Amino acid sequence: MKYVIGVDLGTSAVKALLVGRDGSVRAEASREYPLYHERSGWSEQEPEDWVNGTLDALRALVAESGVDPADIGGLSFSGQMHGLVLLDEAHRPVRRAILWNDTRTTEQCRRIERTLGERLLAVTRNPALEGFTLPKILWVQEHEPEAWAKSRLFLLPKDYVRFRLTGAVHMDLSDAAGTLMLDVAGRKWSEEVLGAFGIPASFCPPLLEAGGFAGHLNEETARRTGLSADTRVFAGGADNACGAIGAGVLAPGRTLCSIGTSGVILTYEADASADYRGKVHFFNHGQPGGFYAMGVTLAAGYSMSWFRRTFAPGESYDQLLAGVGDIPPGAGGLLFTPYLVGERTPHADSVIRGSFIGVDGSHTRAHFGRAVMEGITFSLNESLDIFRQAGKSVDTIVSIGGGAKNPVWLQMQADIFGARVQSLASEQGPGLGAAMLAAVGCGWYPDLASCAEVFVKPAKTYEPDPARTETYRRLFRIYQDVYRHTRELNAALREFRQ
Ligand code: XUL
Repeated sequence: MKYVIGVDLGTSAVKALLVGRDGSVRAEASREYPLYHERSGWSEQEPEDWVNGTLDALRALVAESGVDPADIGGLSFSGQMHGLVLLDEAHRPVRRAILWNDTRTTEQCRRIERTLGERLLAVTRNPALEGFTLPKILWVQEHEPEAWAKSRLFLLPKDYVRFRLTGAVHMDLSDAAGTLMLDVAGRKWSEEVLGAFGIPASFCPPLLEAGGFAGHLNEETARRTGLSADTRVFAGGADNACGAIGAGVLAPGRTLCSIGTSGVILTYEADASADYRGKVHFFNHGQPGGFYAMGVTLAAGYSMSWFRRTFAPGESYDQLLAGVGDIPPGAGGLLFTPYLVGERTPHADSVIRGSFIGVDGSHTRAHFGRAVMEGITFSLNESLDIFRQAGKSVDTIVSIGGGAKNPVWLQMQADIFGARVQSLASEQGPGLGAAMLAAVGCGWYPDLASCAEVFVKPAKTYEPDPARTETYRRLFRIYQDVYRHTRELNAALREFRQ
């Protein structure tokens, strides 16, 4: 066996990577699918679009690489987290999936807090946030009783796709941790939480480790993709857990900055003893027995893609951001808060929306581009601040995703974070983490850490510049104030949103 495949089921697209034994990417293919925003705050996808996109991407990967399918030993997944896929008795979706960035469930979050009180944080290690899965289940129970009556089982996005590719139903621990129904430290479904909301145990799929063996590809998948039905399939993990694996964040002291549609700052935790009192998320890692703590910016890359779509349709990111590096830190007094769909860390607020503060007649589009980059990075810095205040020292951060594709942004991260920022050679984000799970599953390496020694190669290090770091330290305090000053204004504007 010479190759494995990592499938990253993202929010805007699915991307499949064919990876060799030395960690080099032999081929890649991706397919986009639509997001449905029927109302302000709603965000849904069609599970069938994920399945068709994945099968098409896999078919293209096999055909375009020219590799003998018998040489592909295994396949695993990384997936967008928290999305609710409700299945009926025949395992058919009863409605569209409700995604991680959907914020319709504020009332259900308050109900979860009232019902579970302190037990919520003690058992699930997380607060009730709109994006998590349990509030979505309660929303369907309350608002769509017909859909609920048909529901027998729930899955998360990548678990549904894996089910369709193999016929076997599972969920992995790193993704289950984001449902608010898992006893995170005990690594099992929480009977206490399920019981409190009348959810039967049969509603939750069997759990596997992220690297656990889940089955083989079924005949239909083999026929549609050209892959062999002998290909072994491993469970896979949450996209953030897989991003961490793919960046070698597998031991205490390692910190990740990942900018995809959302953005996260994530740090490895060897055990479940850390107590951030719910200020950041605390989930099981894809490395067996490990955990990670993480703060989330809901609209990170999404803010940048919104900016491009709205103000520079048809332009590439390189064209859009061409002059940004020539503008000094602070974007000429222009500040952006990236609250386009509400926020998670540190403000769990579904009503807040973004702002440009300080717009001046001298500002050009490049000032706005720089302000968007800085605002996203300031938001991530709020998560870093929480880790530092809890006593963690963070001096080096591995950066992946959209934010790692642009040298100006990488230097900006170093300056705003006040930490060394490292980019990776041929960085592939969570898809590489998924491929590493398959590589270890196939027995190529004894564990993820030894796989990372071969697969994860540092590229460039960006040192923080003391003068710019000081400028950003002062700007960050002003940035932090914008939330407080715009909260009520946004609450008043809410009735005008469609
Ligand atoms: C994490 C979260 C997002 C999604 C993006 O809690 O909601 O980072 O995983 O796919």
